[in-house]
Amino acid sequence: MTDYTKKSYGRNAEIAAIFSLFKAGKDISQHGPRRLGKTFVLDRMVEQGKAHGFICLKVEIAGCTEPKMVFRRLCEAITTHRSVTTRTLSIITQRMGQIINPRGEQTGAWYQNLLSLDWETYLERLLAALHNDKKHQWAILIDELPIFLKALHDKGEDGIKQARDFMNLFSRLRSAQPNVRWLITGSIGIDPLARAGNYMGVLAKFYPYQLEPLSEPQSRDYLKDLAQLGLIQGRMAITDQEAQAVAEAVGWRAAYYLEAFAQNLPAHPETETEKVQRNINTAMEHLLKSHNKTTFGTWEEHIRKHHSEQQRGLSFRILNAIAPHETGLTLDGLHGALGLPTLNREALRQHLMLLIDEGFLYREPFDDEAAPFRFRITPLRLWWNQYRPQANA
Ligand SMILES: Nc1ncnc2c1ncn2[C@@H]1O[C@H](COP(=O)(O)OP(=O)(O)OP(=O)(O)O)[C@@H](O)[C@H]1O
Ligand SMILES: [Mg+2]
Repeated sequence: MTDYTKKSYGRNAEIAAIFSLFKAGKDISQHGPRRLGKTFVLDRMVEQGKAHGFICLKVEIAGCTEPKMVFRRLCEAITTHRSVTTRTLSIITQRMGQIINPRGEQTGAWYQNLLSLDWETYLERLLAALHNDKKHQWAILIDELPIFLKALHDKGEDGIKQARDFMNLFSRLRSAQPNVRWLITGSIGIDPLARAGNYMGVLAKFYPYQLEPLSEPQSRDYLKDLAQLGLIQGRMAITDQEAQAVAEAVGWRAAYYLEAFAQNLPAHPETETEKVQRNINTAMEHLLKSHNKTTFGTWEEHIRKHHSEQQRGLSFRILNAIAPHETGLTLDGLHGALGLPTLNREALRQHLMLLIDEGFLYREPFDDEAAPFRFRITPLRLWWNQYRPQANA
């Protein structure tokens, strides 16, 4: 297993910063678009928690469709952790007057009892135990919280109320057990949900931590390591010149896209500018072939899954309009190109902000209203322009 603490691209500065915020008593909401490496950071925090004085539990809640399922996952993550003593658990469960033995051999019987368990109360007691733990400080890292909230919202009014109740309960648990630190993250925007569900107040208590792409030197180290570790098919080395050129060609330096690109480099490593460029062009061509749809298809799927029917059409139109333009389109240029008489400029601007938030687009400089909106990931732009996904496909 790679020891990421020794790697420039191992997100060590970010992880140290997050733990410092934890130590300052802050809970964190980590932001960043699809595939940036948010879950990677969580996994490293679990590995390295001890060195920073924390025990981190990671809980993935995509796939949960009821608050009860989330409580249950949290309970399971806590009760199965080796640092929670059997004694602690038995005190809690005895108090609850229920015969549960999460570590028992008879899993069948255990699950029978779990069905009738009051998960919310159980979680509250477990958190109290973590809060009162004299030996360890605990942190709970929740991955894909917004996907869960979205699943509730999709059920309609009742679901939105469920989401709000859940977030209010979460807030209450946080303040009742202040020694336990929390980090929430996810691949879709949580703010629009919080606005719709009226729980912005709960989110406001989290310190927003923005994860950034890798730096150029980090990207080069990462690419060269990949080859050296034998992780690039048919390649044992990537030259400095190639690593630099790959980072530039991808534009947005997330490990995921750097790797996807590198996997398509021709077999022979090159150092001369022209030959390097030829390798880059070949890799780009390969990457965009239809069999690579999985690499970029997540972005299309993201819109299909997570945008409302109303939003979806506009998202596809906007991206299809911008895709042919390497340097992007300004707000007015785009407004004209779309030619939708019912779409006002402000609504379009709002929608573009959503697409920026989700990582599709960016505007540079961001504060310049006249600056063009363009794709963040160059190969994604080219892929989009080639396949031109449609709302009603
Ligand atoms: N700094 C890094 N070094 C090495 N590999 C990385 C790094 N960051 C991310 N990766 C790898 O890139 C891939 C995508 O990262 P990850 O799953 O963490 O992204 P994410 O932001 O959680 O994406 P999603 O929004 O889709 O959940 C993973 O295979 C991960 O291991
Ligand atoms: Mg993730």
